[in-house]
Amino acid sequence: MMPNIPEALRGDIEALREKLRHHNYRYYVLDEPTVSDAEYDREFLRLQSIENEHPELVTQDSPTQRVGATPLGAFEQVAHEVPMLSLGNAFNEEDMREFNKRLCDRLKSGAPIEYACEPKLDGIAVSLLYQNGVLVRGATRGDGSTGEDITQNVRTIESIPLRLIGEGYPHTLEVRGEIYMPKAGFRHLNQTAAAAGDKQFVNPRNAAAGSLRQLDAKITAQRPLQMCAYSVGWVEGGSLPDRHTEVLHALNSWGLLINSEMAVAQNIDECMSYFQRLDGLRESLAYDIDGIVFKVNSRLLQERLGQVSRAPRWAIAHKFPAQEEITRLLDVEFQVGRTGAITPVARLEPVFVGGVTVSNATLHNRDEIQRLGLKIKDYVVVHRAGDVIPKVVSVVTAKRSEDVQDIAFPEVCPVCESPLETLAGEVVIRCTGGLICGAQRKEAIKHFASRKAMDIDGLGDKLVEVLVDKGLINAVADLYSLEFSALTKLERMGEKSAENLLAALKESRLTTLPRFLFALGIREVGEATARSLAHHFASIENISAASEEQLLSVADVGPVVAHYIADFFKQAHNLEAVENLIAAGIHWPEIVLVPAEELPLTGQTWVITGNLEQISRADAKAQLQALGAKVAGSVSAKTYGLIAGPAAGSKLTKAQDLGITIIDEAELLALLAEH
Ligand code: IVH
Repeated sequence: MMPNIPEALRGDIEALREKLRHHNYRYYVLDEPTVSDAEYDREFLRLQSIENEHPELVTQDSPTQRVGATPLGAFEQVAHEVPMLSLGNAFNEEDMREFNKRLCDRLKSGAPIEYACEPKLDGIAVSLLYQNGVLVRGATRGDGSTGEDITQNVRTIESIPLRLIGEGYPHTLEVRGEIYMPKAGFRHLNQTAAAAGDKQFVNPRNAAAGSLRQLDAKITAQRPLQMCAYSVGWVEGGSLPDRHTEVLHALNSWGLLINSEMAVAQNIDECMSYFQRLDGLRESLAYDIDGIVFKVNSRLLQERLGQVSRAPRWAIAHKFPAQEEITRLLDVEFQVGRTGAITPVARLEPVFVGGVTVSNATLHNRDEIQRLGLKIKDYVVVHRAGDVIPKVVSVVTAKRSEDVQDIAFPEVCPVCESPLETLAGEVVIRCTGGLICGAQRKEAIKHFASRKAMDIDGLGDKLVEVLVDKGLINAVADLYSLEFSALTKLERMGEKSAENLLAALKESRLTTLPRFLFALGIREVGEATARSLAHHFASIENISAASEEQLLSVADVGPVVAHYIADFFKQAHNLEAVENLIAAGIHWPEIVLVPAEELPLTGQTWVITGNLEQISRADAKAQLQALGAKVAGSVSAKTYGLIAGPAAGSKLTKAQDLGITIIDEAELLALLAEH
């Protein structure tokens, strides 16, 4: 006998479920929650406890029913009612223009074609079937005709509604999209795996695929997966809007996540601009994308264009160059940096990745080599993105051959044979040779000559190496006694270049105290710190005589930096180098210390937001502080002005609301230059 359930209770439960679905949607799909996590949890527990008391009222679409109880023995096969197609590829602008032309010719229309532009998410294609708004089946793409039933697993993904919200959806609605793992979730998953000594995933795509392949949905439930809808398949009992982008907005209004970067291009030129823009954004996106999908936006035109073999004529994937490739590790060499840090560098069989040919990649330090389990002659995955230094991300152990060799770390400095040391709390191994070490000497001179230091035109890294190797210079001060006759004897150094170099050296002797301090290459003293030191102490004598305690009173100098500075000026050879440089004629305008209350920006509090391109944030901050301003992290009524670069967010809105002065980077540079 069915227990007698009051209708009111049924109604209450359903209202509670609606409320939780709504909160879920706001949190996972719109990313704009309107209740606290605690409040959500309270309501969720309330529903759970009512359902525990009345198990007969539990429905499959209840928010409490995401994780099924019993693991499967195997995945069942699913026949797709409408085949899941794949996409043709374009690899350059020419391919894209040909694609557009093909479509224009076929449609016999002179009018530009409107396209939907969507990031091509790097995950796993899935199909979700909703009957009367209830999720009844989730399936993989498989071969396009038959996939696997992964309903239990997709149910655990919070951004997939178990029941659609809103109104107007067709009775039968098959939603298609990509299940993927955001980068942050992937990193976290791998960190947890590493800590537990478990195997790590190679990339977010493999992690997403591995998570969906679980027969036990409890495991899938613990994985940070997301699903983004990008099209529909089987639809019956209802109608959808005429344009593809409107269809996606409709799916969004029914509770599904769509990509926030989706845009409409009026013609192929706009498609190309979109491609460029997203390529620039790629690194900063929260998820991996491997290209852009362009789709004819009119569904009527899509129908007229039809498909060839297994791909629609009306869509194309414009791929970015791959950011990861497999190649072979030929050898490992050890480079000695300016501060003596020994960095292992991978010599690789050249490979085209991220748009360039890569033959070297950093291996960071010994711990990293151990973490990777790397051996010479291993096949490795090399990652190169944007302008970042290429990196070895993993070893393809399945391809390991018998002739691999262990990587032997040097016992002494590979350049000067001085002993090596590892300081407590550091992973870095350092050469103790200081300026006795040829490598450190070369690096110190390169740094001294560099643009932000003494800015010696024509003295590039290669020339420094030659000058040191030929014994023409041993220390920075020697640069100033270089002679014309010695220079012109060097290979590829004509009279004109020698003259220019000597002129640049002469010119570099007039500098500023901040530049000179930075050029000395004291550990951890960057441009901003050098500027603060100069404006605090006003002279090199004062700085070299300062105690650690006195150094600590400088803005942004902490105990570690104070120690490095004091230590630098304790060493006789450094003091001698400074003396020699000054004797060689290096000089700078005197710094007149102005009492703090008389500085031009005294009393002003500035906030910096968004991206700055010409100047680093630390530098902007130090320069503002040197002019007497305070630099704060958040906007309030006390803020004097906001410096807003591109991609500024809530701080800009707040400053606008408060009517605070807002300037851009160019205006900031003008302000700094003025004083
Ligand atoms: S549309 C007929 N849109 O790329 C349209 N696919 O071969 C077929 N993908 O595995 C797909 N992001 O899973 C489309 N915004 C997007 C996509 C996308 C990723 C994947 C898809 C499929 C492959 C295309």
